[in-house]
Amino acid sequence: MSQKEFIRRRKQLLKMLEPGDIAILPAANMKIRNRDVEYRYRPDSDFYYLTGFPEPEAVAVFIPGRKHGEYVLFCRERDPVMETWVGKRAGQDGACEEYGASDSFPINDIDDILPGLMENTERVFYTMGNNSKFDTRVIQWVNTLRDKARSGVHAPGEFVNLDHVLHEMRLFKSATEVKAMRMAAKISVAAHQRAMRVCQPGMYEYELEAELQYEFTRRGSPSTAYSSIVGAGNNACTLHYIDNCDVMNDGDLVLIDAGAEYDYYAADITRTFPVNGTYSKAQKALYEVVLAAQTAAIEQLKPDNHWNDPHEAAVRAMTEGLVDLGLLKGRLPTLIKNEAYKRFYMHRTGHWLGMDVHDVGDYKLGDEWRVLEKGMVMTVEPGLYIPLGSKGVAKKWQGIGIRIEDDVLVTKSGHDVLTGALASSVDEVEALMASGN
Ligand code: GLY
Ligand code: MN
Ligand code: MN
Repeated sequence: MSQKEFIRRRKQLLKMLEPGDIAILPAANMKIRNRDVEYRYRPDSDFYYLTGFPEPEAVAVFIPGRKHGEYVLFCRERDPVMETWVGKRAGQDGACEEYGASDSFPINDIDDILPGLMENTERVFYTMGNNSKFDTRVIQWVNTLRDKARSGVHAPGEFVNLDHVLHEMRLFKSATEVKAMRMAAKISVAAHQRAMRVCQPGMYEYELEAELQYEFTRRGSPSTAYSSIVGAGNNACTLHYIDNCDVMNDGDLVLIDAGAEYDYYAADITRTFPVNGTYSKAQKALYEVVLAAQTAAIEQLKPDNHWNDPHEAAVRAMTEGLVDLGLLKGRLPTLIKNEAYKRFYMHRTGHWLGMDVHDVGDYKLGDEWRVLEKGMVMTVEPGLYIPLGSKGVAKKWQGIGIRIEDDVLVTKSGHDVLTGALASSVDEVEALMASGN
């Protein structure tokens, strides 16, 4: 992502702040995986969204109207020895020259410098609760100033949640962000296509995971956006199944929920296909119900509709389908009102998508579902899950889990399915699988 985009975001934030405000945003900490091995570092999305700065041990500070610059970045100093081991650090010069900070100080000096920056401010925009150690430090800095009140120092009197402002910004994707999301979608589509082409009875779920991973990595995605789910047969009924360790049998369906991250943006795609390349009659019947629910939901994605409209459309289509197949009995309005479908469809139809797979942004404003607007991106992912041993359910339906998930951008006049290039109808999926590898 170009520096221009980060400059635009910081400008937008600074415009929303007032003179007398200060915003403080620490980078996420490194995380240990085992003993002295760390996970590969990925800045948290809020921090990266505003800074584009990829290093840990950094704190961004925004002070509208500050004479010596409105954007201060605390970060690690250059250290030739450490850099030999773990790679280049930007240092203070790099923070200003490469990453657009107006001023930069060593992170180790923050206790001496930050209280001074907070002096004579009124409101501190900071999100409490993500990092308790840092929370304590912020409070200490404020207290340092309060202790000096008698010498005329004015300490800020109010804390405001920075999430509110920032997450509202992140909910609306710019053209640059949509471009990154299209790329994440494209890579993910290729990975799912590969998995469909190579799938054979007798393979293990992890073999398909490896095929997905191969496409992600070779196409420039440094990480999946979340742990890939590859669940065959009854495993597909566990919503967040990530063991991916079982053999895939002839006659089973396999559910793959996997998406790449590209330039810090996520894709989130699910497809469910027959391990042997051909849906059985029962599998096909259930699959058509889920697909109809997804189609009905996607149709609802347009400006001025509400966040919940797609879910309601999916629930109606799903309930109708379950009644047609004899899996639910009763009158449609009553079944919907009583949420009878929840036995087989227990999650919601989607979520915001962006830098985080379950992205930020309010779903309700006050008590009202949010109105959809251009630039919002969400998933549409209805599913049906009928585990083995489901009481009162005919055997032929059991051990089947189906989800179909696409990523959709709300446009000025409707929507654009970012992941629409991937086969989703029964015929399309079977044709793709038949094309082999
Ligand atoms: N893969 C997580 C989700 O679909 O929400
Ligand atoms: Mn998913
Ligand atoms: Mn999802």
